[in-house]
Amino acid sequence: MRLTYTSDVWYKNAVVYCLDVETFKDGNGDGVGDFRGLTQQIDYLARLGVTCLWLMPFFPTPNRDDGYDITDFYRVDPRLGTLGDFVEFMRTAHDRGLRVIADLVVNHTSDQHPWFVEARSSRESPMRDWYVWSDAPEPDDPAQIVFPDKENSVWQYDEGSEQYYLHSFYRHQPDLNVGNPEVRDEIARILGFWMELGLAGFRVDAVPFLIENVNPKLANPHEFLADLRAFMTRRKGGSILLGEVNVPYQDLISYFGDGLGDQLSMCFDFIGMQNAWLSMARNDATPLARALRERPQPPKDCQWAMFLRNHDELTLDKLTEEERQEVFEAFGPRADMQIYGRGLRRRLPTMFGGDLRRIKMAYSLLFSLPGTPVIFYGEEIGMGENLDEEGRMAVRIPMQWSADGGFTQGSPVREIPEGSFAPDRVNVADQKRDVNSLLRWFQLLIERYRECPELAWGRHTVLETGHRAVLAHRCDADGATVVVTHNLCDTARDVELTLAGLAGYHLTDLLVDGTLEVSADGSVRVPLDPHGCRWLRASPPEIPPEDASVKAQ
Ligand code: NOJ
Repeated sequence: MRLTYTSDVWYKNAVVYCLDVETFKDGNGDGVGDFRGLTQQIDYLARLGVTCLWLMPFFPTPNRDDGYDITDFYRVDPRLGTLGDFVEFMRTAHDRGLRVIADLVVNHTSDQHPWFVEARSSRESPMRDWYVWSDAPEPDDPAQIVFPDKENSVWQYDEGSEQYYLHSFYRHQPDLNVGNPEVRDEIARILGFWMELGLAGFRVDAVPFLIENVNPKLANPHEFLADLRAFMTRRKGGSILLGEVNVPYQDLISYFGDGLGDQLSMCFDFIGMQNAWLSMARNDATPLARALRERPQPPKDCQWAMFLRNHDELTLDKLTEEERQEVFEAFGPRADMQIYGRGLRRRLPTMFGGDLRRIKMAYSLLFSLPGTPVIFYGEEIGMGENLDEEGRMAVRIPMQWSADGGFTQGSPVREIPEGSFAPDRVNVADQKRDVNSLLRWFQLLIERYRECPELAWGRHTVLETGHRAVLAHRCDADGATVVVTHNLCDTARDVELTLAGLAGYHLTDLLVDGTLEVSADGSVRVPLDPHGCRWLRASPPEIPPEDASVKAQ
């Protein structure tokens, strides 16, 4: 494989930054973040080094699920600005070399969406079939209830028209019926609309629900994804679908489009994420190493999206009950830190008790795991959560720009957290001035990640280390190699690695000063500090390390 044309498949080593316009930066002083505020901060994002912004839903909404309940797919929520502000934002982002993708939430609409208002008005409504109705639904399977604290069924009786409608999530989010070709066409129209305004793709919400919970069942539900992708590619080559598909690996692979790679361009690695947390809870790399070994290779031109935290709960649903309890115990023992019995409503730094060494190691792991890293706003400065906020909102707090908050001149839409993660302790302005800050660490990791396309593109191999606490892996592409080691425990470790094909090579540390030599038998001893991490570029002695790297184009 030649690593040419990396910019055509730009998403394979992008750095994706997820943010909510509402909580990022207020540009007009009304306490709500908006596109004008976001536009002012684009230079910050560009200098951080991220290459793609993922905007959480910014469409008109009654806001009963933080914007994941939409009433108009073709407009901007007036609280966040106008379509004109959106276009100005896009222009500025493009000028700074950033791509933008947005949430595509079409599994359901708000129950206040005019389509649903029309559909429920009578059984004869021309839009009736845009949603999924039943006279007598099958009994619920409790395992299918996504929000068990609020719902006990996925069916809701509609008094007016005397039938039940399906809602895979909250009852105020009726499921759209993609079994209906008109709905499928409308979804394509939505994609086309925003692509025309410059979006490079979409993060697709709740993909399995979208294609499976329909009436009549689609003969081949995946064909719909392939059709959408083909539509996008016709309009703009290189546009992507990044899917939220939290299913076991063996089922997940079909969402890329079996072997062909013609459906979702990327899928989040929920299994890898959960096992990373289990490994960090145990200080034992085994679960993560196993997940990486078991993870299927995505088709050519597809990619895994790696993350440690996102805007939802840290779901642990794919671990066993015992494993889940271990993670709870280590990172969120109190009931108010947990949610739905399956997840944590915390951000990463508080889970590590603010231990900067450990936090830095965790993010080094994220950026070096094979795939495309996705970060959630505020992770780069180590923001905490606000457990006083309801449910998943705990992690969706205003961005902390300066010691006094800096999010708004007015009174903020959401409360600013107090305590050791409050803005006076954790903010962008201070960390910009501090060379040892987490923000600077993120900048370094992002720069190195972009300089090492092997990490994203290459063939990866998990290496034996002889120490359970240490994860070591190597990524090889086009004759170039990066070797990465992470010590999950808080005592120093020396690991002995065997590096096939690299006998006599130099290993140059890309994060701190230091060079190691691989001996003639291919072995090398790698010392690691407590929670230490090393990214090592392999180069033959006669070639300087920077020339031994894969050159992206
Ligand atoms: C997944 C989103 O990430 C979550 O925040 C939302 O509540 C549900 N889908 C429903 O849209």
